Amino acid sequence: MGYRVVVAGATGNVGREMLNILAEREFPIDELAVLASGRSQGDMVDFGETGKQYKVQNIEHFDPTGWDMALFAIGSEGSKLHAPRFAAAGCTVIDNASLYRMDPDVPLIVPEVNPEAIDGYTRRNIIANPNCSTAQMVVALKPLHDVARIKRVVVATYQSVSGAGKAGMDELFEQSRNIFVGDPATPSKFTKQIAFNVIPHIDSFLDDGSTKEEWKMVVETKKILDPRIKVTATCVRVPVFVGHSEAINIEFENEISAAQAKTILREAPGVMLIDKHEDGGYITPIECVGEYATFISRVREDSTVENGLSLWCVSDNLRKGAALNAVQIAELLGRRHLKKAA
Ligand SMILES: NC(=O)c1ccc[n+]([C@@H]2O[C@H](COP(=O)([O-])OP(=O)(O)OC[C@H]3O[C@@H](n4cnc5c(N)ncnc54)[C@H](OP(=O)(O)O)[C@@H]3O)[C@@H](O)[C@H]2O)c1
Repeated sequence: MGYRVVVAGATGNVGREMLNILAEREFPIDELAVLASGRSQGDMVDFGETGKQYKVQNIEHFDPTGWDMALFAIGSEGSKLHAPRFAAAGCTVIDNASLYRMDPDVPLIVPEVNPEAIDGYTRRNIIANPNCSTAQMVVALKPLHDVARIKRVVVATYQSVSGAGKAGMDELFEQSRNIFVGDPATPSKFTKQIAFNVIPHIDSFLDDGSTKEEWKMVVETKKILDPRIKVTATCVRVPVFVGHSEAINIEFENEISAAQAKTILREAPGVMLIDKHEDGGYITPIECVGEYATFISRVREDSTVENGLSLWCVSDNLRKGAALNAVQIAELLGRRHLKKAA
């Protein structure tokens, strides 16, 4: 026996990946409903490569009573309108938006890192999925933290345009084409030209001069991994369609060598270590697209601090950064709490 599952935001980047991954992983589904806004009501979406197609329903008219779980990827505004309604009807919401992430009554889960925290979901019947940059970083940090206790992290991100939804991908495509044919590359979704450029600004500015994306990496890492870890981040949008990269510098309480770190990372859940000191012996975002793993390369000691390491971390932001993590949460919820399916 399987579950009655809802995918909300099924026409978007993350929603489509959630459908792909539910199908790929053969998630036990008895019945599936796909939802979006009224704009795409009646459109057909594929259920991965199964050959099955589903008609998109308008979330506003959907009654969640009797549905087991809903995977939401409709943004904070949509989640604010609909998540409490679904949760109150007994349908557990697994939400990709940032809205509930820091709510103390909502668990923020990366299954490789803090699976036990999911037990708190009963307080609101909502579980939050972290920001894409945080998700891949904590997968890399957790096994190292367990062994050598992390004190401080300095991270610079290189985030793909798909992190800004369908509109972000369209803008990179259109601007690149326009530049080749000599037309103007006018920004609309992003604040400056993104084609052949990088933009050190993701989400809104805060009073201290940091951005909200940077703040999310700080507070979400603390909530998921350890409140004592200090994080400072610089988040940058780059002209890559899919795949976020991060240059991470870590200061530990205890001694840890690059060789020890590599041995730990080789065995760590969700991690793939690709680290050869030769041309191409590392991962770039293009190679992580469609993959489940968080890839780590360039592990090396940082001799400028006591017990310091630097590494390069790459993952598919639509997968580990969003859809895969959400489906892993659904699997965890099933195993630990719902226990309906095999
Ligand atoms: N992309 C990433 O790397 C990433 C990572 C982590 C989290 N997230 C989060 O995931 C969510 C979706 O991101 P995305 O990249 O998939 O965006 P997207 O490609 O722009 O798709 C947005 C989806 O949400 C639907 N939608 C928007 N407003 C809605 C509303 N009020 N009611 C119902 N449906 C609504 C859209 O439906 P229509 O087709 O009908 O407009 C579409 O299906 C966001 O909360 C984002 O922060 C994204």
